[in-house]
Amino acid sequence: MPHRPDPRRRTLLLSALPLAAAPSLAWAQAAAEPVKIGLVLPMTGPFASTGRQIDAAVRLHLAQFGTSVAGRRLEVLLRDDSGVADNTRRIAQELVANDKVAVLAGFGLTPLALSVGPLITQAKVPAVVMAAATSSITASSPFFVRTSVTLPQTASTMAEWAAKNGLQRVVTLVTDYGPGIDAEKSFTDRFQRNGGRVLESLRVPLRNPDFAPFLQRVRDAAPQALFVFVPAGPGAALMKQFTERGLDKAGIRLIGDGSVTDDDILNDMGDGALGAITAFHYSAAHDSAMNRQFVQAFKATNKGLRPNFMAVGGFDGMRVIRQALEATRGQTDGEALVNAMKGQSFESPRGPLTIDAATRDVVHDIYIRRVERRDGELWNVEIETFKAVKDPGRG
Ligand code: PHB
Repeated sequence: MPHRPDPRRRTLLLSALPLAAAPSLAWAQAAAEPVKIGLVLPMTGPFASTGRQIDAAVRLHLAQFGTSVAGRRLEVLLRDDSGVADNTRRIAQELVANDKVAVLAGFGLTPLALSVGPLITQAKVPAVVMAAATSSITASSPFFVRTSVTLPQTASTMAEWAAKNGLQRVVTLVTDYGPGIDAEKSFTDRFQRNGGRVLESLRVPLRNPDFAPFLQRVRDAAPQALFVFVPAGPGAALMKQFTERGLDKAGIRLIGDGSVTDDDILNDMGDGALGAITAFHYSAAHDSAMNRQFVQAFKATNKGLRPNFMAVGGFDGMRVIRQALEATRGQTDGEALVNAMKGQSFESPRGPLTIDAATRDVVHDIYIRRVERRDGELWNVEIETFKAVKDPGRG
């Protein structure tokens, strides 16, 4: 009888074959393909300086540490969302669905980060927040990991220092959206707990703010200090109007979250900024060998531009991604990558940094800094350090 293959067995064999061959074939293919990182930033519009800083820092990281990790090439796909959340969400969706990015990164403002929460949760794609700073972002998806800062970290530290350094009557002025609300609440809670009194709580709009009428109210309230949060960028206008309206001459001190004396624009602020006290996680003047090297390399590759906290968030974000890929040996499963990001700890140009394994949020030193002129330039000079500050809202 001629040999007739058993049709059942053939089917079995056929279906067994891809099963057996698939892992190694797929693995070989994946290893040959680049690991894609979708970097979504405001490169145009009012927050373009954030995009410019982070993009430059990501490129510096690739130049210093190479474009391959665990045998795979890294490919960064930079996309401009102009600082508009609808764009961020659409672009992130395209990067995940069409470009098959392994990781998303960037997010210049809180609403931009929050807009991708449902997408990254559903697609299981990690998103590294390099700029946005509202506390609740990391709680809104298990795939968010943050290398920037949180407003409760800076504002509560500022409040603690202010109350312990003779300030009892303060007015707060914040930009009216997520991080501003966080700043107002954290500052007020901590300041009151330390015996201080907030005389008035003022909020200015995010887009095209006119600080003048608010500063007049501050003058009238005659506090010992004005606590401010404005996102990186409008700080220069605020500082100019603060002095133009004579608040400094009236003996009102300026204190705040460090975004207001952003290193990117500090030198353009002039002497009106001298003496401003802020709490923050990064100063270009941070005194460490690693930071000196970072500032020098950043300036050398960006026509003398001074790196700000956005740049360090981008630089450290790339390190977190790279280190996670090393731990997974180049595999890009989203859950494995997030797990490999949790608990990472290393020295950053800002000082020591840890990604809290439970919250995926950044833990780092918060410094009190005073604006001083040194060698003809304005700097945020660190005068006191609060060690390993966690986001106070999430213990
Ligand atoms: C934010 O939108 O979360 C944000 C942006 C700029 C800052 C701080 C916070 O300087």
